[in-house]
Order: sequence, then C-alpha cells, then structure tokens
Amino acid sequence: MSATNEEILGRADANDLEAILSITNDDMDSIIHAVKDNADAIFTWDYEKGARPALNKLYEKAKGAQWNGETDLPWETAVDPVELARNSVTNAPIDQQVDLTGTCFDGWGEKEWTDLNVEFQNWTLSQFMHGEQGALLCTAKIVETVPWIDAKYYAATQVMDEARHVEVFAKYLDEKLSGHYPINAHLKLLLDDIIEDPRWDMTYLGMQIMVEGLALAAFGFIQQMTTEPLLKQLLRYVMSDEARHVAFGVISLQEYYKELTGPEIRERQEFAFEAAVRMRDRFLQQEVWDRFDVDVKEVVKIVMQAPERQVFQTMLFSKIVPNCKKLGLLDAGDGWLRQRFTELGVIQFEDWTDTGEEYATLDEVSKDREAASA
Ligand SMILES: [Fe+2]
Ligand SMILES: [Fe+2]
Repeated sequence: MSATNEEILGRADANDLEAILSITNDDMDSIIHAVKDNADAIFTWDYEKGARPALNKLYEKAKGAQWNGETDLPWETAVDPVELARNSVTNAPIDQQVDLTGTCFDGWGEKEWTDLNVEFQNWTLSQFMHGEQGALLCTAKIVETVPWIDAKYYAATQVMDEARHVEVFAKYLDEKLSGHYPINAHLKLLLDDIIEDPRWDMTYLGMQIMVEGLALAAFGFIQQMTTEPLLKQLLRYVMSDEARHVAFGVISLQEYYKELTGPEIRERQEFAFEAAVRMRDRFLQQEVWDRFDVDVKEVVKIVMQAPERQVFQTMLFSKIVPNCKKLGLLDAGDGWLRQRFTELGVIQFEDWTDTGEEYATLDEVSKDREAASA
C-alpha cells in the first residue's frame, strides 16, 4: 500500500495553495533550532581504502580541489545591489503580458519593482545560505552513519566544502547586500525531515540527490546569467564542489538500492516526491511578500502565471530527474515516481545528463589553477 498525499505532504492536493501558504516559519526570533537526530553512529573495522573505487576516486579528487573562501574570491569587487537585482533571473517574475489592472500591483512603479527585486535577491541568496548549512549538518551526519570507510572519507571532505559554502554566502550577504532572510518554512520542513530520518541512505537522497541536485541546477542558471563578477566566481567555485556532492549521492545510492526490497524502494520514491514538492513550494517566496503591503495569495497566483517563472522553476529539476532515473526510482514498482514527476511537470528532464560523472567537467577550480601555472 502506498502512502497518500495526506500522509506524505499533510494535504490531499499537492497544489492546494491555501494549505501551502498556511505553512509558515513561526520561530523567527530564536538563534538556534534543535532537530532530533535519530540515527546510530556507526564504526567500521573494515579500513580497506579503495574497496569502492568510484568513491575513492571522488575522495582523491576532493582533496586536491579545496579552495579558500577568503583568499580565492575577488572580495574587493564593488557590488551594486540594485544593479545585481535588475539583471537577476530571480527578479520580478511578472511577465509584461500579464494584465495587472485591478490587482495589488496596479499603480506599482519603478521604485516598487526595484525594491521587490532587491528583496528577491536577498531572499534567494539567504535560502542558499541556509541550505548550505543544512548540507553541512547532513554530511557531518553521513560521516557518522554510513557504514563504508570510503564514504566516510569522502563525506569528511564534503563537510569542509559545506563550511566554506556557508561562509561565502554569509559573507556575500553581509558585505555586499543588505541583510538576511530567515529560513523559508518549506525548506526548514524538508531539512528537518532529512535530519530526523534514522536511515542513513535517506540523508543522501534528501540532501545529495534532491537539495543539492536543485542547488546545482540553480547555481548553474544564475552563474550563467549574472554579470556581477564576484557572485559569478563564487558560484563557479561552489558548483565545482556541488557536482562532486551530487555524484557522491548517485554513486553511493546506486550500490545500496540494489539491496532494497520493493516496499523499501517505494518509501524512497515517496521521500523524493515529498522533497520535490517542498522545494517547489519554497519558490512562492512568501516571506518576501510578507514585507510588502499585498495580498499574498493574490500575488502568488499572478506570479505563478508568468511563463519565465515556470521555465526557471522547472529547470531547477533538470539534475534531479535524471539522477532519480539513474537510481531506478522513476520506474520502480509501477512507475509511481514517474507519475508524480509528470504531475509536477518535470518529467521532460529524465534523459538529461545525470551527475554520476559530471563533476570532472565542472571542476573550475582545477581549470583556473592550471591556467594560472601555465
Ligand atoms: Fe554546498
Ligand atoms: Fe553540497
């Protein structure tokens, strides 16, 4: 028996806007947020390095690809937040074709749209920063819980990568933009679910495949579009690391899923679906709208209609879907996840490049070093 939407998402209809917007972050003032980590820490006495060659290769690669967030990025670059927002893919998701007469945007001028775009920019980068901290905690957890020594070694390098990512996003927000946003309610719900799950492979599925798969696609999109040199360089380097992280998930789960039964695989499919919906829901950016004098439900409906918005949002699944396919999650059982991804409108990415090997071509850090020493 498969779980219902109600059991997986807490609502019967995945697209129920009222229910989506009713999920809010009601803990904005605390400095810390505690989550129960239900997993056992696992020692292994099998120290044979390279027993899993693909993981060993990834580990050796990661050791040579470390960079320093303080000294390897051009922090002296002056950044104009208004200019940055104007040229951003995250900006005013309102198509010129959409008629705004009689809506809360009626009468909005240059100033209001500019303010909104600056807020979108801050919100987007803040959520990346929070997601990076989620990755930091998840990979520290994987070091403890995964039973394979090659995976513990590799995960330890990812802990360092994620610390650097949190550091550079926080520094960019503090020094170049104007303030942090608290974590989005849907992202928080997802990160909590991933950390609470006692099964070690669920950390990988939630973080490496889903959250990092989305981050890799989003960073790639923004990195290509932005003309701001510091952010561009920051994202190039973060992406080099993220490509390894997603590969780590694909390589590890490919092996582990072979041992699982049909019902166990179904639970992984359901978790992948839940994560996909949470990540889609967060792009309603409800925390931004709360800062403007608008009806959140109304503006969200307008925003959802904008075609470029839909392109950006579906593109975010361009790594997740092929990786789920490679892991056998799309078609396992009766194709349950294929059906769900079809309903979410993202199945068209199934044959795009998966991320098992892509990290080698995305290694911009090594490319820069080779160019500098040539
Ligand atoms: Fe990261
Ligand atoms: Fe990562």
